[in-house]
Amino acid sequence: MMRRQFDRMIQLITLVLFLLACMLSNALGSRSLSRINLDSTTIFDVATYGAKGDGKTDDSPAFMNAWNAACQAEPNDRSILVIPEGKTFLLKPVSFSGPCKPSSVYVQVSGNIVGPTMKTDWIGYHIDTWLSFSMVNGLTVSGSGQINGQGPLWWENACIGTPPPGTSCHAPVALMFKRCNGLRLNGLTHVNSPRVHITITTCNNVIVSNLHIIAPETSPNTDGINVASSTNVNIRDSFIETGDDCIAISGGSSNVKISGIMCGPGHGISIGALGKGGADVVENIEVRNCTMQKTLAGVRIKSWQGGSGYARNISFKAIKFDAVYNPILIDQYYCPTQQDCINSTSAIRLSDISYSGITGTSMMDSVINLSCSESVACTNIAMDNVYISSVIPGRKVFGKCINAHGRISHVKPWFNCLKP
Ligand SMILES: *[C@@H]1O[C@H](CO)[C@@H](O)[C@H](O)[C@H]1NC(C)=O
Ligand SMILES: *[C@@H]1O[C@H](CO)[C@@H](O)[C@H](O)[C@H]1NC(C)=O
Ligand SMILES: *[C@@H]1O[C@H](CO)[C@@H](O)[C@H](O)[C@H]1NC(C)=O
Ligand SMILES: *[C@@H]1O[C@H](CO)[C@@H](O)[C@H](O)[C@H]1NC(C)=O
Repeated sequence: MMRRQFDRMIQLITLVLFLLACMLSNALGSRSLSRINLDSTTIFDVATYGAKGDGKTDDSPAFMNAWNAACQAEPNDRSILVIPEGKTFLLKPVSFSGPCKPSSVYVQVSGNIVGPTMKTDWIGYHIDTWLSFSMVNGLTVSGSGQINGQGPLWWENACIGTPPPGTSCHAPVALMFKRCNGLRLNGLTHVNSPRVHITITTCNNVIVSNLHIIAPETSPNTDGINVASSTNVNIRDSFIETGDDCIAISGGSSNVKISGIMCGPGHGISIGALGKGGADVVENIEVRNCTMQKTLAGVRIKSWQGGSGYARNISFKAIKFDAVYNPILIDQYYCPTQQDCINSTSAIRLSDISYSGITGTSMMDSVINLSCSESVACTNIAMDNVYISSVIPGRKVFGKCINAHGRISHVKPWFNCLKP
């Protein structure tokens, strides 16, 4: 009897010890795992690489060194490049290039960044871009810092129209993202770019949100965001006040969604200008829940004569206009300078363009202007629930079209120039 009880006790103790051992090894295993996880994020503070942040010292070399360290950190790590709060870093033109070893690189912009204060600071640099990120996958640029391009330096002698590269009036883009996948850009304030504030080109899978872009209404060519040759781009919840297009989508772009944008002053949200000297393709664009305030154009599709290719499946939904100059515009005769424009019968083919749930006021009596090319026309335009009135109560407004095909319902002002 005693003997059996003793044996069972030994069995029980063995079992308990075995279970304890299992739990302990599990705990150790997960502890060492979590330590690996913690260690896999490495912080690279530009200040520890020598950046002064006094607004006067050229901090570009320090930024370059911090970037190279962050970009070359061990694979599978997450690098965080920190631009600390409460300081202003002066940067000359800098190119942050990949590919990087970590699968994601996070740039935390808490402090401010300013551009060169004199044009002579640009001597010896490629003058097309101030800050560029290229070939970096899994890049996030985020924070409450401000990026100031010192635009006034460039605006006085700006080119008219689309500035040809290499001319002295050709001002740089402030921030350029090129050949990227998985870009996230959010929270920052961008002010006074020499030319375009943010260009996104040859990228895939991009989310831009909660930005504030500010430049004077009179500043030349200061587009807010340009998207070119990129796919799966989502731009949302941002304030954009500039001297040119708030957002422009150009050739090679598809699956672009824009929403929650407060635009104005500026030239509105544009597709184009497309087809300048060649073929362009743009498709699957949605602009939704945006407000335009005192902008020169509202929603606009513009193309040069003589181009080829197409723009199709473009929709504008839930748009509000407040004292806008040309609320709804398709212009296939785009020629901003009225010079050097060819008269050509070839044109970009526009189709499947819809406008719905659009309301507001216009500064001009012409509130809808669909000017399509004679040779290819615009096809399948649909307008539904579009109500635009004059800022002057009771004043008559009108819609107008040439070579446009489609149908309208619940539209005011009513117009009947659309062909079936
Ligand atoms: C529309 O955009 C505004 C910002 O302009 C945002 O606050 C609001 O939540 C958005 N509404 C919807 C239905 O997405
Ligand atoms: C049109 O574009 C939207 C995105 O704006 C997309 O969801 C939809 O699938 C496209 N339609 C077609 C027929 O491609
Ligand atoms: C409509 O747009 C075309 C092309 O830009 C322009 O020539 C024409 O003057 C505009 N019409 C009105 C009434 O604004
Ligand atoms: C294009 O045509 C317009 C009138 O249709 C004319 O005034 C202009 O001179 C022409 N431009 C060229 C470059 O031929």
